[in-house]
Amino acid sequence: MCGIAGYIGEQNAKDIVINNLKKLEYRGYDSTGIAVLDQDISVIRAKGKLVELEKKLEDESAPGHVGIGHTRWATHGKPSDENAHPHRAEHVVVVHNGIIENYLEIKHNLINNGAQFSSETDTEIIPLLIEYNMQRNGLDFEQAVLSSIAQLKGSFAFAAMSTTEPEKILVAKNASPLIVGIGNNEMFLASDIPALLEYTQDVVILEDHQMAILEKDQLTLKDFNNTELDYQVKKITWSRIAAEKDGHKHFMYKEILEQPRAIADSMRSRISKQAAKVSLSELDGMDTDKFNKIVFCACGTSYHSGLLAKQWFERYLRIPCDVELASEFRYNDPIIDDKTLWVGISQSGETADTLAALHEAKDKAATCLAICNNMDSSIARAADYVLYTQAGPEIGVASTKAFSTQLSVLAMLCVHMLQAKSKDKVSELVHAILHLPEAVQQCIDLNLKLAPLAQKYMQYSSFLFLGRGDAYAIALEGALKLKEISYIHAEAYAAGEMKHGPIALIDQNMPVMAILGEGIHQEKTLSNIEEVKSRDAKVLIVCTEQQVQDLKLDQNYDCLLIPQCHNFIRPILENIPLQLFAYHVADQKGLDVDQPRNLAKAVTVE
Ligand code: M6R
Repeated sequence: MCGIAGYIGEQNAKDIVINNLKKLEYRGYDSTGIAVLDQDISVIRAKGKLVELEKKLEDESAPGHVGIGHTRWATHGKPSDENAHPHRAEHVVVVHNGIIENYLEIKHNLINNGAQFSSETDTEIIPLLIEYNMQRNGLDFEQAVLSSIAQLKGSFAFAAMSTTEPEKILVAKNASPLIVGIGNNEMFLASDIPALLEYTQDVVILEDHQMAILEKDQLTLKDFNNTELDYQVKKITWSRIAAEKDGHKHFMYKEILEQPRAIADSMRSRISKQAAKVSLSELDGMDTDKFNKIVFCACGTSYHSGLLAKQWFERYLRIPCDVELASEFRYNDPIIDDKTLWVGISQSGETADTLAALHEAKDKAATCLAICNNMDSSIARAADYVLYTQAGPEIGVASTKAFSTQLSVLAMLCVHMLQAKSKDKVSELVHAILHLPEAVQQCIDLNLKLAPLAQKYMQYSSFLFLGRGDAYAIALEGALKLKEISYIHAEAYAAGEMKHGPIALIDQNMPVMAILGEGIHQEKTLSNIEEVKSRDAKVLIVCTEQQVQDLKLDQNYDCLLIPQCHNFIRPILENIPLQLFAYHVADQKGLDVDQPRNLAKAVTVE
């Protein structure tokens, strides 16, 4: 989970590579580096974020029209100048994303043959191995790269340059993403598409087991057996502005505000008011009748989408559903077969655990459906069917619009499958979904001024989030948002579980965020609120204005309001004030909202 950038052409490579790395910093930001090839290779690296590298570059001219760069999320070796990429051998320099699993074995062999290492990383074996293959085995740069790849086990996307062939960048991909952008007499390289959009909309998305040779006016694609391959240049239609901040202080805030648009885009041409039905043409050919079980599998926020989906699918479809953490799934010998619909949910489409879980599900003959935001991502390509969310690029590390669009697509999937069984409820649910963009906008408008509330609560060090039924998934998501960007400890419990332990924590120092829900859940959650109130907790409640009035809620409670809506879409709305609350707390604390410590946007290693 690092970011790779590269450039070859006629412009100054350093400026373009640095600019592209800025867009890739969400993938990791504990150290950065750049290598530019002119007569020789200049390597400049810095511990910390890209600004630290930029400071160093003020004193370095680093001229050249060929360059590669890297922004790192440490796996092997702590963040430091020495462990930052690029790593260099005599003639070769490399940046790498992924993990080389057999690096120790290769490292020992290289050391026995006189190689000297200067970092603790797994990556450093790549340039040293290529160098070894060039010097000892007399191979040219390209052959040496191919021969080195044959020895590597694990996941990698890497880019290499050599002083022996200064007009080329060689790249290779296995299980980590890599995109080549095609310009006019120039080529670009990045770990994702948005990083390239400022320069080109024409891209080639590398597949696993492919290597590419970038020259300024030519791209050659090969497999790892040195066989030349045809490739397709894709035109990307995302606007560049969609990947930028649009005048807001943080990407996260912009992305929260974008949700009505993102949901509407995700619904477009999939749901019809006139026909009162959902049509997911992407699922043509899928025999939905044959499934006797659905497994939702994901990590983090996407896992919370799966938890809510289970509630919906079991309630309306009466099909047993499991929700699995992707990081656990393949180690538990899951009970699935050809009658299982396995649904992998992933914004990035690159989460290593979710991808590995998908392979496990495929091996066990399940039908695999991916719900992804990133077009042509690894998970999307490996699945049998894909439903794309249309959130557009999500840059803030904390997932917001990706979650809302995942839930919108899952809601449509639920209705799509229901239509095949019964007409009951379909029209009602379709209308509820159609109301979503407007209802989410109302919800945002109701909660735009949460900054003073955030100020009131920002000094607390622990929060408890409570919810029942559908709202339990939202409580988990609300707690995750608060902890990941504001570094406040937050735990979520199904409200009925509180008496079984967590109530011991309650006192005046532990605010409780209760998601009220409705019907039987409202009644029961109200009792839980009374219990925490009588133990001096500060209470915040997510509810409607109508509930505040009808239930005569205590004026000391801080209410985060949502509009009246159908209970099917209610949890999607309940999540919006929790996003804004977490955002304002983190912002008031002066924290780095878009790039919280220790995290990365896409977790592409296990
Ligand atoms: O790209 P994915 O949806 O597969 O990512 C899964 C998690 O890493 C992600 O949701 C993570 O939990 C977010 N930081 C939450 O805001």
